[in-house]
Amino acid sequence: MQSQCVMDGMLPDFLDDAVVAAWSASGAPLVDLLRQAHTPGRLTGFRRGGRAAVLVTDPRHVHEVLGVGGDRYVKRSHRARPLLGDGMLTASGEAWRSQRRLLQAMFTGRGIQRWEHHIAGAADRVVGRWAGLARRGEPTDIAEDVQFFTVDTIWRSLTDRPLDEETYVDLAAVQDIVAALPADVGGAAALPPEVEAALAALDERVHRAIAEARVRHSAGTDTDSDTTHTEAGSGSGSGPSVLDRLLDAAGTDPAYTDRLIRDELVTLLVAGYESSARTLTWAFVLLDRHPEVMERAAGDPRAVEAVISETLRLYPTGWLLPRHATGDETLDGFRIPAGTDLLVCPYLTHRDPEVWPDPETFTPERFPVRTPLPPGAYLPFGIGPRACLGTRFAMREMELLLGELLARFTVETTEPAGEPVFGINLRPAGPLFARVRERT
Ligand code: HEM
Repeated sequence: MQSQCVMDGMLPDFLDDAVVAAWSASGAPLVDLLRQAHTPGRLTGFRRGGRAAVLVTDPRHVHEVLGVGGDRYVKRSHRARPLLGDGMLTASGEAWRSQRRLLQAMFTGRGIQRWEHHIAGAADRVVGRWAGLARRGEPTDIAEDVQFFTVDTIWRSLTDRPLDEETYVDLAAVQDIVAALPADVGGAAALPPEVEAALAALDERVHRAIAEARVRHSAGTDTDSDTTHTEAGSGSGSGPSVLDRLLDAAGTDPAYTDRLIRDELVTLLVAGYESSARTLTWAFVLLDRHPEVMERAAGDPRAVEAVISETLRLYPTGWLLPRHATGDETLDGFRIPAGTDLLVCPYLTHRDPEVWPDPETFTPERFPVRTPLPPGAYLPFGIGPRACLGTRFAMREMELLLGELLARFTVETTEPAGEPVFGINLRPAGPLFARVRERT
């Protein structure tokens, strides 16, 4: 590696181009190159196709790029744009700000209470299914079960409608699209043709939900507010759904076209089920390797919360959060020229031995942390202005389901879990087959 001195400051260390060329020729995943570039505490970079990228893992640097520098280091054309369009995750500038403002209040601790019955209902469904499997002695695929649960909770919360099997099939096919998206930065890739049918089915399903909601919505707009939406919706007494809120916005803001409403719904749907489902699957993978932790967590909500926090440390599904320097910047005294990609990598940050002793081991007892962590040291939900909108929702649904399942069942996998796949999300490869038994 070589540091490069330029007139107005040092550039970070850069990997030799030959190392990058060898990695590129090997076809290895991006995470392998990042591991080679990684030097704890330092900014290190590499060049590919004439573009410079700098790996950001030290908590101080993470805090600077995502937190205080959140307005200067922006999301460049997003890897998921072909799927998510201009929804909140991919939008930038004023468009993003106004989208976030519109939905923020719905996702606070108080805001998500309106969806508690959706989350509880979806959890009951899985518990009931596992009770049947336990009685019959049949195995199950945990990855699929937790995915059904997270699609169920988010679909009900977004639309205030129940989830039927056909809708589930169309919505869950999004995972094939997500799996086809590149982990790497470099502009929005086109979707491969084999996932076009899945995208068309998803779009049709979402547009139909919007059209149905519009009918209910206009039937209920003579009077105003939450009561009206409840009557127009499922009668669940939960107040307006996210879709109602978006249709309200469409009444006053021309930016909320049908296209943008679709993009926002798909964004919340994908962001809202993928990460939670994969995190729950990772939790079961780790618990299977640590049966003593599984026993301790049964019936103990604080231990369940710690299991989830530690799972998110070891396997943050948002393992790579790319940003882009639009102007010339200085980071920790180093020069970051305009046009540089900054690759914030929670996966590597979460394994920093300076912050996490014995970082590779699964030790839920680390949580809740006793001494405050340095800013930027733990960021499974991101930090700064673009931090996850659904943190509270995700933690609530994961804690509820995992708590109920561990309290009632023992779980034993029947095949080893798949290897980590570092795609746009960090997920375990393949299914997770297991036998579940009622605790006696
Ligand atoms: C375990 C579950 C989850 C994890 C680990 C997770 C992680 C993240 C991370 C790391 C980001 C920041 C991305 C960046 O800075 O580039 C993010 C953003 C986002 N997440 Fe989540 N998320 C989870 C669940 C959810 C849920 C349940 C929802 C919706 C209900 C959601 C909605 C969003 C949205 C809309 C954004 C974009 C926010 C913005 O750009 O303003 N997420 N998430």
